[in-house]
Amino acid sequence: MRNIKNNEIYMVRMLLLVVVCIGLLPIQMRAQKNSYIIPGEVWKDTDGNPINAHGGGLLYHDGTYYWYGEYKKGKTILPDWATWECYRTDVTGVGCYSSKDLLNWKFEGIVLPAVKEDPNHDLHPSKVLERPKVIYNKKTGKFVMWAHVESADYSKACAGVAVSDFPNGLFTYLGSFRPNNAMSRDQTVFVDDDGRAYQFYSSENNETMYISLLTDDYLKPSGRFTRNFIKESREAPAVFKHKGKYYMLSSGCTGWDPNVAEIAVADSIMGTWKTIGNPCTGPDADKTFYAQSTYVQPVIGKKNAYIAMFDRWKKKDLEDSRYVWLPVLIKDGAITIPWHEKWDLTVFDKQKKSDKQKK
Ligand code: DGJ
Repeated sequence: MRNIKNNEIYMVRMLLLVVVCIGLLPIQMRAQKNSYIIPGEVWKDTDGNPINAHGGGLLYHDGTYYWYGEYKKGKTILPDWATWECYRTDVTGVGCYSSKDLLNWKFEGIVLPAVKEDPNHDLHPSKVLERPKVIYNKKTGKFVMWAHVESADYSKACAGVAVSDFPNGLFTYLGSFRPNNAMSRDQTVFVDDDGRAYQFYSSENNETMYISLLTDDYLKPSGRFTRNFIKESREAPAVFKHKGKYYMLSSGCTGWDPNVAEIAVADSIMGTWKTIGNPCTGPDADKTFYAQSTYVQPVIGKKNAYIAMFDRWKKKDLEDSRYVWLPVLIKDGAITIPWHEKWDLTVFDKQKKSDKQKK
């Protein structure tokens, strides 16, 4: 009887010790390591928190990938005056994560924070800040961020620019403007092999996509631009280059709701662009897997390997919007983005092997 009691006390003590030890472990050690990309699932950072980087893009710099995106925190609201579904969260800023393997991401902080004290500032919480992208300028050594800067009612339609000496910030906000005197909403920036950079932006009330060459310092439009996809209402542009040709993935214009994606190709970045069709395949491919394009990232060190990044918006709880990352597969010049429940970068090696076996 006494032995049983002693055993019980021992067990309880051991249990308490385990609980205390787990509590003492650094958060990083408690967080699980990600071995796969699981589209649509909550994706945790190395601290164990859900990654918060929506409408974002990647930058590869000195062996590290940086992921920048809208840090959407708190309640999603539909303003009283809304005549359409302009659900929004207060602006918190642009979040940044870093990774060596594209699977495990360390939170680097809010690299462009909201400006709470000035209600007229572009970055005041009452405004809208979307689709930030960062490029590196080799000549100036600066990291340059372009983003869609909006008033709460989406009438401002401007591009905002910020700059930093480091990829993980802080970024200094330089201001906003309508590039080439034209509205600028969904947008991305792309650096070509020759070091020239371009902004792609939905303009003319989202009806026409502008492609604008930036100045050598990447801080302003150079004045050279073309109008593309005229009256085709494309948004969410994501651009990449493969074997000398330029590709642009984009969505239609249906607010936060999904629609069919399209990919277009051009021999010259300023156009002419030719639409190829919907690259997505598999279940819900006609709804872009209930997501919307934001960026395409080449996998460094692998040939013909690109990752298409999409956002699966949750319009009534924007903070909980999810990421749908999928491999872009290129076979005999045809580009597809097939659905995968879960995958890792070996998908590109398997693709290469099956191409070889066919020859
Ligand atoms: C679609 C855009 O792609 C998003 O970035 C956001 O602006 C929503 N529209 C707002 O409805």
